[in-house]
Amino acid sequence: MYIQFLILVFWLNLHTLTAHRNGQVTQACMSMTPGHGFNASTLEPPYTVTSDASNYTDGQVITVTLHANETGFKGFLLQARDEKGPVGTFTVMGNNTQLLTCGTNDSAVSHTSNDDKSNIVVQWKAPNSNNTDIWFRATFVQNSSIFWVGVQSDPVRFLATNPPNVTVSPPNTTVSPPNATVFPTNTTVSTPNRTTDDSPSISLTWCLFLLPLLAII
Ligand SMILES: *[C@@H]1O[C@H](CO)[C@@H](O)[C@H](O)[C@H]1NC(C)=O
Ligand SMILES: *[C@@H]1O[C@H](CO)[C@@H](O)[C@H](O)[C@H]1NC(C)=O
Ligand SMILES: *[C@@H]1O[C@H](CO)[C@@H](O)[C@H](O)[C@H]1NC(C)=O
Ligand SMILES: *[C@@H]1O[C@H](CO)[C@@H](O)[C@H](O)[C@H]1NC(C)=O
Ligand SMILES: *[C@@H]1O[C@H](CO)[C@@H](O)[C@H](O)[C@H]1NC(C)=O
Ligand SMILES: *[C@@H]1O[C@H](CO)[C@@H](O)[C@H](O)[C@H]1NC(C)=O
Ligand SMILES: *[C@@H]1O[C@H](CO)[C@@H](O)[C@H](O)[C@H]1NC(C)=O
Ligand SMILES: *[C@@H]1O[C@H](CO)[C@@H](O)[C@H](O)[C@H]1NC(C)=O
Ligand SMILES: *[C@@H]1O[C@H](CO)[C@@H](O)[C@H](O)[C@H]1NC(C)=O
Ligand SMILES: *[C@@H]1O[C@H](CO)[C@@H](O)[C@H](O)[C@H]1NC(C)=O
Ligand SMILES: *[C@@H]1O[C@H](CO)[C@@H](O)[C@H](O)[C@H]1NC(C)=O
Ligand SMILES: *[C@@H]1O[C@H](CO)[C@@H](O)[C@H](O)[C@H]1NC(C)=O
Repeated sequence: MYIQFLILVFWLNLHTLTAHRNGQVTQACMSMTPGHGFNASTLEPPYTVTSDASNYTDGQVITVTLHANETGFKGFLLQARDEKGPVGTFTVMGNNTQLLTCGTNDSAVSHTSNDDKSNIVVQWKAPNSNNTDIWFRATFVQNSSIFWVGVQSDPVRFLATNPPNVTVSPPNTTVSPPNATVFPTNTTVSTPNRTTDDSPSISLTWCLFLLPLLAII
C-alpha cells in the first residue's frame, strides 16, 4: 500500500514536471494557477515582484524583477495586469525565459526549464494607448506541490502624457483694470446674504473624498 502510494506520488510529480517544466502554460493565462492538483500556498510568499517605475506613460518601457528571498523557484508565470486582464508586451534576454501569448502576443513570460532560479529580470512595454493603472502579477512554483499565485508588485500608476483639453478659454487679459484712483464706494453697503452654500468648499470636500478612492484604485 505504502509502495503504491509512493509510486502514485512519484508519477504525479513526474507528470506535472513533464507538463510544466518547459513553461508552456498558456492554459493558465487568466487563473495563473498551475494545474498541479495542489492548492496554492497561503503562506507569505518568499518571492517578490518589483518594477523600476511607480508610474508610466503610453509606450514606456519598465524593468520588472522577480526575486527569491531564500529558496529558489523552478517555474513562474508573469504578466502585467489591469482590471480586465493582461496588458502590454514583454521582452526577455537569455534562454531561461520565454514569451507567451495570453490574449495578445508576448503578454506573459515563463521559465524554459525547471532549474532553480533566484532572479529574473525582464522588460515590459506599455501599450501606446488606452492605458490605466497596472500591476505586475506572478505565480511562483517552488516545487511540484508548493506554489504561490497572485504575487503582485506595487501598482504602477498611469500618467496621461497630454493633459486633458481645457475647454474653458482663459479670460481676456487685455481688459483694462479698473482705475485704481477711483474712490471706493460706500463701504457700508451690505454684503449679499451668504445663505446659499459655497460651491468651492463643496468641490474641495469632494476632491478630498475622491483622492483616497483614486489611491485605492
Ligand atoms: C484545496 O482546497 C479545497 C478547499 O479549500 C479543499 O477542499 C481541497 O481538499 C484542497 N486540496 C488539496 C489537494 O489540498
Ligand atoms: C513618477 O515616478 C518617478 C520615478 O519613479 C517619480 O520621480 C515621480 O515623482 C513620479 N510622478 C508622479 C506624478 O507620481
Ligand atoms: C528574507 O529572508 C530573511 C532570512 O530568512 C528574512 O529575515 C527576511 O525577512 C526575508 N525578507 C523578506 C522580504 O521576506
Ligand atoms: C542556455 O545558455 C547556456 C549558455 O549560454 C547553455 O549552457 C544552456 O544549455 C542553455 N540552456 C538552454 C535551455 O538552451
Ligand atoms: C503574433 O505572433 C504570431 C506568431 O509569431 C504572428 O504570426 C502574429 O502576426 C502576431 N500578431 C501580432 C498582432 O503581432
Ligand atoms: C482604445 O479604446 C477605444 C474605445 O474603447 C477603442 O475603440 C480602441 O480600439 C482602443 N485602442 C486600442 C489600441 O486598443
Ligand atoms: C516541496 O518543498 C517543501 C518545502 O521545502 C518540502 O517540504 C516538500 O517535500 C517539497 N516537495 C517536493 C515534491 O519536493
Ligand atoms: C485637444 O486639443 C487639440 C489641440 O488643441 C485638438 O487637436 C484635439 O482634437 C483636442 N482633443 C479633444 C478631445 O478635444
Ligand atoms: C476676448 O478676446 C477675444 C479674442 O482674443 C475677442 O474676440 C473678444 O472680443 C475679447 N473680449 C473682450 C470682452 O475683450
Ligand atoms: C484713471 O485715473 C487717472 C488719474 O487719476 C486719470 O488721469 C485717468 O483718466 C483715469 N482713467 C480712467 C479710465 O478713468
Ligand atoms: C452709505 O450708504 C448708506 C446706506 O446705503 C447711506 O445711509 C450713507 O449716507 C452712505 N454714505 C455715504 C458717504 O455715501
Ligand atoms: C438677508 O438676511 C437678513 C437677516 O438674516 C434678512 O432680513 C434679509 O431679508 C435677507 N435678504 C435676502 C435678500 O435674503
